Amino acid sequence: MDLHAEATSEKVAMSHFLDGKISALVGTHTHVQTADERVSSLGTAYISDVGMCGIKNSVIGLDTEVALNRFLNKEENLGFKIAEGDEARVNAVLIEVDESDAKSKKIIRLQESVLFS
Ligand SMILES: [Fe+2]
Repeated sequence: MDLHAEATSEKVAMSHFLDGKISALVGTHTHVQTADERVSSLGTAYISDVGMCGIKNSVIGLDTEVALNRFLNKEENLGFKIAEGDEARVNAVLIEVDESDAKSKKIIRLQESVLFS
């Protein structure tokens, strides 16, 4: 399950609510990978936020100038512009699930930098 939400507390609470009922709960939305991955004794893998795939020199993947204008000058009509650059951050998780009972065995965080040149 991908839980797209802002508050970490809501994601952690949901992981307890669904513990043992699903193979994995992976949080998204903040674009910043958390370091709280775990597999419960009932076989549910969890991480509060998997992170993002996007340009490193950015505001969580958005063009820095546009993002700053939104914050500093309330120029919200600028919309969202994806950042451009030659180095990307690639975040992901690998989850090993036992096919026989759909229980997770392992969750591993991945955080790589990729240069485009
Ligand atoms: Fe979002």
